Amino acid sequence: MSPDSKKTFRLDGREIPFREGQTVFDAAMAAGVYIPHLCHNPDFEPHSSCRLCTVIVNGRPFASCTQPAVAGQDVRSDTPELNEMRRDLTDMLLVEGNHYCPACEKSGSCRLQATAYALGLQDSHFPQLFPHRDVDASHPDIILDRDRCILCGLCVRISRSVDKKNVFTMTGRGIATTIVVDSPSGLLADSKVSRDDEAVQHCPVGALMMKGEAFKVPIGQRPYDRAPINEDSVARFRAREAALHG
Ligand code: SF4
Ligand code: FES
Repeated sequence: MSPDSKKTFRLDGREIPFREGQTVFDAAMAAGVYIPHLCHNPDFEPHSSCRLCTVIVNGRPFASCTQPAVAGQDVRSDTPELNEMRRDLTDMLLVEGNHYCPACEKSGSCRLQATAYALGLQDSHFPQLFPHRDVDASHPDIILDRDRCILCGLCVRISRSVDKKNVFTMTGRGIATTIVVDSPSGLLADSKVSRDDEAVQHCPVGALMMKGEAFKVPIGQRPYDRAPINEDSVARFRAREAALHG
């Protein structure tokens, strides 16, 4: 179904058409307007934890990935204040973990790295915390490197609702929050996870990765080597929309 042309809202002064039930995020991306996001993957249910996609709707802040589009509303996204907040949130995610992009296999396809570039994050404004985080390399096919986890919760949600395995959950509070594995030993090797699980395919960073696949895609040919994340995300979203709704 094509968007109902009678239903639009304004996004940074531009009229954006939407279908009934679409979120502000979905309608914006379908119209070719990138809204930075990290915890949301359009193929799965949003749960608005990272707040990177925050927009101002009729004067009040909302996470656009869960905010329903409503006709006539006034939405601001690309403002200096919101982009500064997004830079700070991204910066905090970087200093709260141990991210060494030049040595990370996910470089070039990491959404955190690409988002930092897209937001123009040149250096950090916060002290690096260097937390101690465990690496679980027990599984023959999968590695969980908590150093790089941004606690987006995607693996938790996908393992529960798509794989129906509940392999992952989160525990702790604040800086001590961590991903834990549901198995007798707490290790991936003793869990029900397998290399075909959707949960291990969609980690936006290099925290959950397949073993034995390093440099399968050479550096320079990875998604965000070829196009910045704003262009890549919009292109993927529009292709997905076309496939699903014509
Ligand atoms: S392991 Fe990956 S998918 Fe799971 S919460 Fe961490 S960053 Fe998100
Ligand atoms: S992408 Fe919307 S809150 Fe994370």
